Amino acid sequence: MILITGASGNLGTAVLENLLKQVSANGISVLVRNPVKAASFEKRGIKAQIGDYSNKASVIKALQGVEKLLLISSSGANALQEHKNVIDAAIQSGVSHIYYTGGALNRNIKESLLGPLADSYITTEDYIMASGLKYTVFQNGLYSETIPYFIGEQVIETGIYFPAGDGKASFAKRDEMGEAIANVMAEEGHENKIYVTTVVPSYSFSEIAEMITELSGKTITYQSPEPQEFENQLKEFGLQDEDIYYSQILAAIIKNEEYDIAVSDLETLLGRKPTDLKTYLKETFLP
Ligand SMILES: NC(=O)c1ccc[n+]([C@@H]2O[C@H](COP(=O)([O-])OP(=O)(O)OC[C@H]3O[C@@H](n4cnc5c(N)ncnc54)[C@H](OP(=O)(O)O)[C@@H]3O)[C@@H](O)[C@H]2O)c1
Repeated sequence: MILITGASGNLGTAVLENLLKQVSANGISVLVRNPVKAASFEKRGIKAQIGDYSNKASVIKALQGVEKLLLISSSGANALQEHKNVIDAAIQSGVSHIYYTGGALNRNIKESLLGPLADSYITTEDYIMASGLKYTVFQNGLYSETIPYFIGEQVIETGIYFPAGDGKASFAKRDEMGEAIANVMAEEGHENKIYVTTVVPSYSFSEIAEMITELSGKTITYQSPEPQEFENQLKEFGLQDEDIYYSQILAAIIKNEEYDIAVSDLETLLGRKPTDLKTYLKETFLP
């Protein structure tokens, strides 16, 4: 039995839908927090277990009879402890192989601005490697989907206004990351491997503006304001505090080159070339 956590989220959905092409529904279970969401999986013949990373006993119960477990990272302030709970639960329940999705962080930067999340990604990997479980770690680049989310869908009219400076980052489509993870989980092997799931090379937002200019035939400007000016502007637009916080963090970590990665395993895991960024921008902004 395979158990997927985070199956109600974006990445987990992508993994699940791709896994269902290779494994029958009765060989897959999911861990969900919300009983209403659980019912929608059960309707499709997928066993849904109610559990929360913060409640180890609930995860132990969900893991009975599970051989392969996918732990999708959580992102709250307690992410690291939550991940440790799930890993400990996996050990106690006799899970044989744990798969974990973390971050493709550039380990050469001096100081991370990602705060506790960077520590959570790195320390979780270390904890898994020391656990004695077979493991496969996926170090995910930034989702391409973060681009329209943070610069707005009307970018051809508005230009790009985002305080990422000249920082470069590597992006990949979340669906293709999910497909790669599903391919690995559907097969045997891949034991004690770390895969980087992103698309290289990395690009800056001024290069993204150039690509959209070429695609649209219209000059797309890129402005990188000071963080305080950006915050004031987002407040004026009426954005929620949480969205403002995530926009600022994402811009700051890109400026700091924290997702500037030079290598990737995504093409090998997909068995084809992943979607390059320019194609993604065309699909998204000029459908
Ligand atoms: N690479 C990137 O660009 C990027 C961007 C954003 C986030 N991330 C990271 O990647 C992860 C997956 O991304 P995503 O887009 O799929 O996020 P998402 O749509 O927010 O999904 C997160 C999933 O994790 C579940 N979850 C969170 N905390 C949990 C807990 N304590 N116990 C049980 N389940 C829990 C959520 O369940 P509910 O449905 O109950 O909420 C949801 O199914 C995120 O959690 C975050 O760590 C990466």
